[in-house]
Amino acid sequence: MDFSIREANLDDCKDIARMIMELAEYVKLAEHVKVTQKDLEQDGFSNNPFFHGIIAEVPEQHKTKEGHTKIGYALYFYAYSSWSGRAIYMEDLYVMPEFRGKGVGKALISKVAQLGLAAGCHQLNFTVLDWNKPSMDFYLSQGCFNITATMGYHCMRCEGEALKHLAQL
Ligand SMILES: CC(C)(COP(=O)(O)OP(=O)(O)OC[C@H]1O[C@@H](n2cnc3c(N)ncnc32)[C@H](O)[C@@H]1OP(=O)(O)O)[C@@H](O)C(=O)NCCC(=O)NCCS
Repeated sequence: MDFSIREANLDDCKDIARMIMELAEYVKLAEHVKVTQKDLEQDGFSNNPFFHGIIAEVPEQHKTKEGHTKIGYALYFYAYSSWSGRAIYMEDLYVMPEFRGKGVGKALISKVAQLGLAAGCHQLNFTVLDWNKPSMDFYLSQGCFNITATMGYHCMRCEGEALKHLAQL
């Protein structure tokens, strides 16, 4: 299938916001999405961006029935491992259902890997929900491994009132 992968820009934020919601619906956690198109514009495309993005796009003739040509995306940012140094963190990876199984997801994760290596990173980190077996299998098929299973890591979080409380100790 004919598609291209390119760096995201300000004009992509509307479609990124749409696909963030589609991904959240797919993982049955849509009620957690608070980020708006405006947040994405500010946080990704101002002087000190908090994230970067890449977009998968198809030519006009392959657009969806709703008229979308932006059919997949990945968001990432740079991180640091005190053990192995520079790292890249992939926050989201998503391909619209009708375009799955055609190599788009692989091209997106490959681009994130390329960008990480070009920036001197030694690791690509991300999370996947335990029940999301198709995606887990996709990642395993691409040479990734499960650090919860092999090293015992669990993802932890502090937010809302607990975060404010923590900040006031
Ligand atoms: C996961 C996802 C990004 C994969 O994208 P995709 O475009 O469907 O995958 P591709 O067509 O690029 O797959 C490429 C490779 O992965 C393999 N693959 C894809 N799905 C697989 C599966 N369920 N099991 C095993 N291998 C799989 C393919 O065989 C292919 O392998 P090869 O070309 O190396 O032989 C996509 O399915 C998706 O958006 N899923 C829903 C959202 C989601 O769960 N995102 C991840 C959240 S953590």
